[in-house]
Amino acid sequence: MSLRLSARLIAAALFFCPLCPVDAGSSNSLLDITPDGQRLLVANADNGSVTVIDALTNKALGEIAVGDKPEGVAWIGNGPLAVVTVYNEDIVAFVDTNRGRVVEKLRVSDEPYGIVVTKDGSRAYVTHEYPGVVSEIDLGRRQVLREMKAGERVRGLAFSPDEKRLYVTEFYTGVLIALDRETGTIVDRWTGHSSDNLCRNVVVHPRRPKAYLPHIRSKIEVIDGRGSIFPQLSICDLTPPNGQKRRTSFGMDTYNGVYVVTNPWEAALSPDGKRLYTIYAGTNDMNISEVVDDDYKEIKRVGSAVRIGQNPRAVRVSPDGKKVYIANTLDFDVTVHDAGSMERLARIPVCPPPKSPEWVRGKILFSTANRPLTSRRWIACASCHPDGHSDGRVWQNPEGLRKTPALMGLAHTHPLHWSADRDEVQDFEYTIRGRLMQGPGLLRGPLKPKVGFEPIELSEDLAGRSPDLDALAVYCNSFEFTLSPHIPAPGKLSVAAERGRKLFFCEAVGCAKCHSGPYYTDSTLKKPFHLHDVGTGKDDPSEKIGPKYDTPTLLGVYRTAPYLHHGKAQTLRDVLTTCNPGDKHGKTSHLQPQEIDDLVAFLKSLPYELPPKETPNTVKYRYRKEDKQRVQ
Ligand code: HEC
Ligand code: HEC
Repeated sequence: MSLRLSARLIAAALFFCPLCPVDAGSSNSLLDITPDGQRLLVANADNGSVTVIDALTNKALGEIAVGDKPEGVAWIGNGPLAVVTVYNEDIVAFVDTNRGRVVEKLRVSDEPYGIVVTKDGSRAYVTHEYPGVVSEIDLGRRQVLREMKAGERVRGLAFSPDEKRLYVTEFYTGVLIALDRETGTIVDRWTGHSSDNLCRNVVVHPRRPKAYLPHIRSKIEVIDGRGSIFPQLSICDLTPPNGQKRRTSFGMDTYNGVYVVTNPWEAALSPDGKRLYTIYAGTNDMNISEVVDDDYKEIKRVGSAVRIGQNPRAVRVSPDGKKVYIANTLDFDVTVHDAGSMERLARIPVCPPPKSPEWVRGKILFSTANRPLTSRRWIACASCHPDGHSDGRVWQNPEGLRKTPALMGLAHTHPLHWSADRDEVQDFEYTIRGRLMQGPGLLRGPLKPKVGFEPIELSEDLAGRSPDLDALAVYCNSFEFTLSPHIPAPGKLSVAAERGRKLFFCEAVGCAKCHSGPYYTDSTLKKPFHLHDVGTGKDDPSEKIGPKYDTPTLLGVYRTAPYLHHGKAQTLRDVLTTCNPGDKHGKTSHLQPQEIDDLVAFLKSLPYELPPKETPNTVKYRYRKEDKQRVQ
């Protein structure tokens, strides 16, 4: 045996226990199974609830309200207690599934996403996306014990089989980070390709020192139905021997021959580590792979891709390895499959459809890479606007560099696009039919043709002509802001931010001339639109339609770097300093460094109170709570 190989085996043996099965709750998911295989818990993100399922009878036992946008669930041992991360409310809810209610709402750091629980049920770990930390929770005392810095925008989370390490993924880079549980420090890092993006899950093999990461690649320099977004599965060697390749990535678009799968969301391993299941939220299918004991091949496809339900976001294997459970989030069910044949054994409805049928239809269209959205299958709207957030990218569009905006507050901040060349979400029929998506479209009949960069969309009125386009608009116009984590309390500003607020509104600095009103923008659908040249148009040689842009909202800017239409400002400070040399973007050159800091502190505090749900500029196509009440 070569020295290299033996060193590797020892490392693997020390680190990975050969007989450990994959335990319930060992990696983050919207779905979890108790170690005895008897109970399932699934989070219904859009309903603000979790549903308990009896795995013996395949029946839902009850739905329990937990709060706005649950993103992760984990059982504590075999239950009846479980913990749930509530992303929009910054809490971890302790749920007593026997009594059907939340018994404790533990306040935690911002944007809790993934959650895992130790086998002995004593500790939980949570990824917090925006702060980039992992918090440790004492489950007995229901207290946060500490926070560990992990990376930027962390989401995916898994234990090593011996539970000594935590593996964490960065959402916008797909980087994998190893944290040592005892010291709470980063001990290793696996960097992928610079285009790796949207990685929300990681699973660790029970015996081979490997981690599996489903994610996409965003090729920002290509605007083409089959060249912009790629489905990937990255595999990292967790105990890399010297000189060995540490991270491999497989393009899943060619994994099934010519059959393309889109938006890999989550993966699961069978308890014996022999099978890997990967689900694709954009094409509603999954792959079963054999895990091969070969560092180059890694996985081998078993059969063809299997069709599953609408927008699958979670997959789990039963502890006996015989069944696979899938949460089809837009069918509002969990399906039970035979792990060998993938034959569907049962369908368990878990919750009523949320909001309105139109909103649900809109989300289905937004999430899918199937026809009629595209005929190429690589791309969904959700590939670049995941749940209304930005993909953190600046795309090389034909008209120039364009940063993907977050869609929060969209209903009130029309017109659309940085250059205000669209005035209704229904205009995205042009995106669907264009080079990016190459779909047949949602509207019957022809559109006014797009010639050059003429904003023809402004004169083509599409609202009310296609129920599907209207539904897409209702969905896109439904994203709302949550309060900034940089405030001392709702409605309150820190002392520095309060000083910044005075500067922002003072005549001499003049920010509020354009960033006015409750949404901090003077955008209006009344013509002529208010567009402004703030000196940013000449920074990008590929720009075709500048130099005037629509004033963006400033709500939520604390989490949307990089800034400006071309993304050339890495920080808010850059927007006000290096990117504003001629004082065309507010007058900032006379400000002292301390005053710039104060202004930045104010920007980071937005929103410090929730903006109104109705303004004179609010559009008609949107979901309102009253609509639901009227239907009922
Ligand atoms: C390849 C990534 C990508 C895909 C796919 C994509 N978008 Fe976008 N989206 C962007 C970028 C980049 C912008 C900014 C473009 C601009 O302003 O000119 C944008 C802007 C928008 C805006 C305007 C936001 C604002 O505040 O002005 C909306 C609405 C939107 N997209 C909806 C959609 C819909 C609906 C789909 C699917 C039909 C979709 N997008 C597909 C990247 C994408
Ligand atoms: C003349 C109108 C106008 C004034 C005055 C103005 N802005 Fe802007 N602001 C804009 C426009 C237009 C953009 C978009 C420019 C671009 O993307 O190239 C913008 C972009 C921004 C952005 C980036 C937002 C993002 O999502 O990328 C920030 C932050 C910002 N402004 C803050 C300020 C502050 C602070 C002031 C006062 C010092 C100010 N602005 C003054 C019109 C204005």
